[in-house]
Amino acid sequence: MTDLLFSPFRLGPLTLANRIVCLPMYLAYPDPDHEVNSLVLDYYSEMADSGAGMVVVENVCVEPCGLGNPRSLLISEDRFIPGLARLARAIKARGAPAVLQLHHAGRHAKRPDRIAPSAVETWGVTPRVMDQADIDRVASAFAAGARRAKDAGFDAVELHGGMGYLLTQFLSARTNLRHDGYGGELAGRMRFPLEVFAAVRAAVGGGFPVGYRFLADECVPDGITLDETRPFALELARAGATYLSVMAGCYDSPPQYVVDDRREAFMAPFAAAIKEELPAMPVIAAGRIQRPETARAILSDGAADMVGLGRIIFADPLWPKKARGQIAEPITECTPTCNLCFKRIIAQKPAYCTRWPKERRERFLERVGG
Ligand SMILES: Cc1cc2nc3c(=O)[nH]c(=O)nc-3n(C[C@H](O)[C@H](O)[C@H](O)COP(=O)(O)O)c2cc1C
Ligand code: SF4
Repeated sequence: MTDLLFSPFRLGPLTLANRIVCLPMYLAYPDPDHEVNSLVLDYYSEMADSGAGMVVVENVCVEPCGLGNPRSLLISEDRFIPGLARLARAIKARGAPAVLQLHHAGRHAKRPDRIAPSAVETWGVTPRVMDQADIDRVASAFAAGARRAKDAGFDAVELHGGMGYLLTQFLSARTNLRHDGYGGELAGRMRFPLEVFAAVRAAVGGGFPVGYRFLADECVPDGITLDETRPFALELARAGATYLSVMAGCYDSPPQYVVDDRREAFMAPFAAAIKEELPAMPVIAAGRIQRPETARAILSDGAADMVGLGRIIFADPLWPKKARGQIAEPITECTPTCNLCFKRIIAQKPAYCTRWPKERRERFLERVGG
């Protein structure tokens, strides 16, 4: 019988060798110059070597004031293209399509000049409200970032609409209190992310894949839910989205916050809801998909077309080969109660995994200076 997990999948012009997607994971590896360095290159080379069918590079910021972390990659100027081109080449040389995630943190930026749709206090700071010039500039910055990613040799771009970052801040009535054409009813709140999407689509051309990290539910009492995100998904499909990579939860939603949830496949029901709404849209499910049986069940149930692995493949980069039976060793699982990788990035320290073998952890800590 065919193993669906290892069957090829067509994603626009790309053919993925299997249904496993290495999800974007920011690991605080770049230096404060925002360039690709050897840590970043080694990490993504390992992810591409894993045998995953597609590798999505962590959030890469389209303009400095949207940086979610001082040690993040930037794509705001042409001078970043050569470094990003090295990264795309390293991934593609190992046989996996390379996708770059375009990002703007909005109110969650770690910057004094942070901007947002509305003056909603965030971590003790109130962001500056975006005026029309900001709106136009940020849309152009996303478009220019997409063009640079394409020039750098990436096979696709993905817009970061997850986690409660800028695109979601416009979508959610919780963070968008505007009374102009970019706020109010859902049609107004969808306008900015859809304008950004259209600008990106126009910049890269119709045939180039543009995916969307899609927040299906903020998991907060007054946050967006499927009632509003389903119609938004329809609009993205109309606008020419190549795939939706579905997630749920945001910074304001403990204890169900994305990295705290300990349940296997905890975001998969949201992917299933979007897949049901849009059967022809390629959908990626995510969220602690630890066991190959879980991944296979998600695919065979039709809940999603691809399964995304974040911490799971960080903990065990041999996951795909073990799942396929090419390596007859048990998978090293991410410990549900651990969270060290996330704590490290919050502390702006390069992340490692507690499940890596001791020698590897020691080598890594020596390399990054603790
Ligand atoms: C340390 C860390 C960094 C992350 N960085 C990103 C990111 O840059 N972009 C993104 O869309 N999601 C990011 N995520 C979310 C993951 O892509 C994924 O959705 C989440 O971790 C659940 O999948 P998992 O249980 O396989 O890790 C990050 C998660 C963690 C733990
Ligand atoms: S075991 Fe800990 S450090 Fe490793 S991926 Fe899981 S949460 Fe991150």
